[in-house]
Amino acid sequence: MQDFNGKVAVITGGSSGVGRSLAFALGRLGAKVVVGDVDKAAMARIGSDLAAENIDALVEHCDVTSPDSLNALADKAEQAFGGIQLVFANAGISAGESGAMWDYSQKDWQWCMNVNLWGVVNTISAFMPRLVAANQEAHFVVTGSGNGALLVYPDQPIYTASKAAVHAITENLHYQVTAAGSPVKVSALFPGPHVVDTGLFNSGRVRPQELKKEIEGNASGISSVDDMKKMAAEWGIELQTTHPDEVAQMAVEGLRNNAFWLLATTPETDEKIRARAEMILSRQTPVANMVGA
Ligand SMILES: NC(=O)c1ccc[n+]([C@@H]2O[C@H](COP(=O)([O-])OP(=O)(O)OC[C@H]3O[C@@H](n4cnc5c(N)ncnc54)[C@H](O)[C@@H]3O)[C@@H](O)[C@H]2O)c1
Repeated sequence: MQDFNGKVAVITGGSSGVGRSLAFALGRLGAKVVVGDVDKAAMARIGSDLAAENIDALVEHCDVTSPDSLNALADKAEQAFGGIQLVFANAGISAGESGAMWDYSQKDWQWCMNVNLWGVVNTISAFMPRLVAANQEAHFVVTGSGNGALLVYPDQPIYTASKAAVHAITENLHYQVTAAGSPVKVSALFPGPHVVDTGLFNSGRVRPQELKKEIEGNASGISSVDDMKKMAAEWGIELQTTHPDEVAQMAVEGLRNNAFWLLATTPETDEKIRARAEMILSRQTPVANMVGA
């Protein structure tokens, strides 16, 4: 997709972090932006910030765990702006797990899978039939994670499992629209190359009451990128980070080239991906720090 001017872009989880940066990047290129989110304070902030830049926007409450909520978002987007050309299934959370997975609460698994996995499935179900029926140039982008799709980090099994499933779904979606001869393109967005400075590590702010953490002992104690930096500094490591605006820029450039992989890596991560492939081919037993984080 070369020209974003006048296009309608729907972004789930669009009021913070990567989604927020996507909203501004696309809005500044002339797109009409529809943000769906559950965080009322962040929604109010982005609503007034987009208005201050005269970006045509609609900010709506939308819970991606609910198919009805996503269908309502799609209806409202079409009523406000007409046909939709860009969908970002972006909403995601970190369950903030730590320790042994056999000690986790079912509620940690349920919340993370509800948002990260079912959220993507529900977004596909609500929007893909409309994009395919329109039979026009359109793009469906799923925000995944290298943690799960490409590597297996050893300390966040729920998140990693959700993102492994999300990647399998995204790749299949690409195969299916291609086989159907549809002009709709599918892309897998990997925020990075470093940890992206967003609200992901404070996801508890939008955790539903009925799925509140029951076992405090399995909380990681990390609630921001600053916390991660401090912890890394204690180990003598300087943690590098990526601003979400850089991720949005990388995504826009990739979409211009109709790229499937919206993936920025470092030589170190490329080496880990290669080492992981080699480990599998040579049937080596996995070693966490070689092929994971
Ligand atoms: N930050 C990173 O380093 C990183 C790395 C890889 C992948 N990601 C992925 O990027 C995506 C965006 O996350 P982010 O890092 O910008 O974090 P973020 O917390 O800043 O943004 C996530 C947004 O999703 C929203 N959200 C949460 N639950 C929701 C629900 N049920 N319905 C609708 N919206 C909901 C939140 O309110 C928030 O606005 C996620 O899918 C995340 O897994 C992030």
